[in-house]
Amino acid sequence: MANFPENFLWGGATSDSQYEGAYNVGGRGLSHMDYIRRVEKADDEKVFPINVTKEMFEDHKKHENEYNFPFRRGSHFYDDYKEDIALLAEMGFKTYRMSICWSRLFPTGLEKEPCEDGVQFYHHIFSECKKYNIEPLVTMIHYDIPVYLTETINGWESPKMIDYFLHYTKFLIDEYSNEVNYWITFNEINMIMNSPYLGGGMFTECSKKSPESCIHQALHHQLIASALTVKYFRENAKQGKIGNMIARLQNYAATCDPKDVLATQQQSQFNYFPTDIQVKGKYPKSILNYYQKNQVDIDWYPGYEKILKEGTVDFASISYYHTAIISTELDKKEPIGAFVRKLENPYLQRTSWGWGIDPTGLRITLNDMNDRYGVPIFIVENGLGAHDTLTEDGKVHDPYRIEYMKAHIQAIGEALEDGCDVIGYTSWGCIDLVSCGDCQMTKRYGFVYVDADDEGNGSYKRYRKDSFDWYKEVIASNGEILEN
Ligand code: BG6
Repeated sequence: MANFPENFLWGGATSDSQYEGAYNVGGRGLSHMDYIRRVEKADDEKVFPINVTKEMFEDHKKHENEYNFPFRRGSHFYDDYKEDIALLAEMGFKTYRMSICWSRLFPTGLEKEPCEDGVQFYHHIFSECKKYNIEPLVTMIHYDIPVYLTETINGWESPKMIDYFLHYTKFLIDEYSNEVNYWITFNEINMIMNSPYLGGGMFTECSKKSPESCIHQALHHQLIASALTVKYFRENAKQGKIGNMIARLQNYAATCDPKDVLATQQQSQFNYFPTDIQVKGKYPKSILNYYQKNQVDIDWYPGYEKILKEGTVDFASISYYHTAIISTELDKKEPIGAFVRKLENPYLQRTSWGWGIDPTGLRITLNDMNDRYGVPIFIVENGLGAHDTLTEDGKVHDPYRIEYMKAHIQAIGEALEDGCDVIGYTSWGCIDLVSCGDCQMTKRYGFVYVDADDEGNGSYKRYRKDSFDWYKEVIASNGEILEN
């Protein structure tokens, strides 16, 4: 087994909207994710509550007090942060990836001054991390925007978002950069192509542009906002590194028919292009050609080429959960950008939610990215969403999670042996939180079980799972001991 570098950043990750709760405390404003409603469905049914339309949004507002909005509750981290960070410390975390809630600081996104409660909340978290020598890795935006901006300017479709966002991120840099060494501007910046509501806080049907143009317009604004943030960070922060992030989809051709291989390559170009821009500083030709051929209409931000060039990142980060296969056969064809695909890879097992489990795909992706970018790679999300059972003695036996993570950590070790520059691994949802795509508690990722159900019933008490002790040993041995 490869030696993990001595300073490898082992840890776990959460996001504000899925974890904090306390949606109406301390002057926090509502975010667009607070209007995503839980709907009952089978685990692998391809219905995504995150795809909120304008009509659904109006309905959710009308039934504000009746519908189930799990993101408003999260896992009560806002109240339990001390206990939770102590649990992370007990596992020996070197880093903790978290995100800041924009509307907790600037409730509508327009305020000049932030809410003091929110400002102090994040100071408390950072000082709690410091107490245990845990390095915070902070995502500036993990999808959620103040809902006021969704309602008034259709979220990221509007160029005004760039100024509002910069006001927020400049504040973060000025206020917290002495306490934080690792930053990510946008969580999964490419998610907007799969879910415009989730990733862009907008309704494509409300745009004058075609849905595809609206999405790419908004993504352009996000890329500009990210680059300008990076520039400000370089000029003002006294320390630290700043990175980008995509949801990485390493997919395979369904057959060796060159047409399938070509379609897979195109899918890959599409998946990578935000990172191409954020690492190399310009739009790849393949995407500009695609825009032209498909009448994707972008109003280019003034001076955008220079801005992108000046705003390149220090490291590239990814989430990695599954792979899928791509086919050009008409009945199997799925739109470019589709997240979870229908076609099954016969060589892979799948999770209950239909995600193909593929540790070797992670090794492939790390090698691919290492060759393509030449900057350090940070795996900031990976893990198994599963049903867990709390037994009467207060235990959760989750050998399936250990098996999944062991295989993925082994694959990282192999990628390191291949020569990849991987600097850290933060597994997703280290303490159970509300799953994003399905908006439910019962899809769990954590090493720590949170006693709550999809309706918010339960004590919210924390219980260590078997994987807790296992991960503790993995970290203590710096990835040497993976057996349990
Ligand atoms: C990533 C997101 O796409 O996947 C997280 O950044 C999300 O917010 C994670 O929770 C896992 O997806 P899900 O739908 O199982 O929660």
